[in-house]
Amino acid sequence: MTTPRPETLAKLTPVLTKRWLSPDAWRIGTYEQLDGYAALRKALKAHPDDLIQLIKDSGLRGRGGAGFPTGLKWGFIPQGDGKPHYLVVNADEGEPGTCKDLPLMTHDPHALVEGVIIASYAIRASRAYIYIRGEAVHAARRLRNAVQEAYDKGYLGRNILRSGYDLELVVHSGAGAYICGEETALLDSLEGFRGQPRLRPPFPATHGLYASPTVVNNVGTIASVPPIVLGGADWWKTMGTEKSSGPMIYSLSGRIANPGQYECSMGVTLRELLELAGGMQPGHNLKFWTPGGSSTPLLAAEHLDVPLDFEGVAAAGSILGTTATQIFSDQDCPVYATYRWLEFYHHESCGKCTPCREGNYWMVRVYRRILAGQGTHEDLDTLLDTCDNILGRSFCGLGDGATSSVTSSLKYFKQDYLDYIEGRTAPKLSDKQLVGA
Ligand code: NAI
Ligand code: SF4
Repeated sequence: MTTPRPETLAKLTPVLTKRWLSPDAWRIGTYEQLDGYAALRKALKAHPDDLIQLIKDSGLRGRGGAGFPTGLKWGFIPQGDGKPHYLVVNADEGEPGTCKDLPLMTHDPHALVEGVIIASYAIRASRAYIYIRGEAVHAARRLRNAVQEAYDKGYLGRNILRSGYDLELVVHSGAGAYICGEETALLDSLEGFRGQPRLRPPFPATHGLYASPTVVNNVGTIASVPPIVLGGADWWKTMGTEKSSGPMIYSLSGRIANPGQYECSMGVTLRELLELAGGMQPGHNLKFWTPGGSSTPLLAAEHLDVPLDFEGVAAAGSILGTTATQIFSDQDCPVYATYRWLEFYHHESCGKCTPCREGNYWMVRVYRRILAGQGTHEDLDTLLDTCDNILGRSFCGLGDGATSSVTSSLKYFKQDYLDYIEGRTAPKLSDKQLVGA
């Protein structure tokens, strides 16, 4: 196991994670002792438009994967339109490998609740929802408890801290469908319909929940708001890079010594993250990795020094996504890993559009054939052709995301495919596994 050097340790910037290890950090008493709700008191004295400007100035970008500028999104909410406005927190974290929002809500739920109140005040919403994954029972319990504590202390409800501002906050548990993390499917689900994506535009900013202006933001985005209000935009920008400001929680999993969440300035590299995480497990050498979950194109060992910010990862041909950094070694098979991810996408496809519904179904079958030692060279062209027919032709991002590991594994690890096809690698699946769902 490697010990991080002081200059690498300096890359750690605990802002959102700073309270996680405090005893009873999820209780309001602890939270208040550690600066909790100080940002809310400050925010309620400011004009809502000034708060939107502050978030714009900070350069905060969405932490759910797409990196859309948060202040810009808040600024899209029409004012004086006479319609109700809503804030909806997307806590349906479901991207394989991603594990940053659930620990945040479990360890520090008041950080999210405080962020919700400030953000709702800024966009002039009087009702907010946190839509949390159905499976995240423990985190949901902690959140509901935190919401109740906030009501009891006058941080939620009517006339918050005697400011004249009212806000009701509801925690809603989903039913465990990955597609409900897509913002418009989430809104449908919240309205009581089957969760399927809506056509965009119009975007939720103008036509969201109950067709009213709605900001949909990720947990990490909203939890970043109180520290920005307290510390200021300039302080926030001392971390990260010019276009990707602030800290980011990188969730590291796989063949590393110490998996977990590492909050660092954006732009940290995988080489540095590995150093912080104690290096690779003994006997394992890095072979491939995802920079931001399984929907983002795989990278290889040659990308160890790519800055993990929105621009750096894009320049390397991938996407920063959810910063779910899954590490695979020379003892792992990129063909098999891609197959397992595809099974996931095939299972989670909502079925609304043909390219994703049919394409993933057929790609799973082709992978099974290859992994059972019955693949042909033409299968590789079939896979690329299928991806070509899914990418950019699907109704939502799930279809596009499903193709990422297929095209990137064929780009970097074609030899692994050929080894199955030409009989140098023993089949991983039996004939019996060729059929099935
Ligand atoms: P997107 O880029 O289409 O939109 C991002 C956000 O900006 C949305 O809230 C959208 O409403 C808003 N927006 C974009 N253009 C706008 C405009 N002209 N006017 C008003 N608002 C506008 O990305 P999308 O499809 O919402 O999210 C894709 C990302 O989600 C992927 O990059 C992926 O990494 C991530 N993802 C995250 C998961 C998780 O568990 N956190 C799961 C699966 C995917
Ligand atoms: Fe549904 Fe897939 Fe089409 Fe998205 S891309 S709407 S998940 S079928």
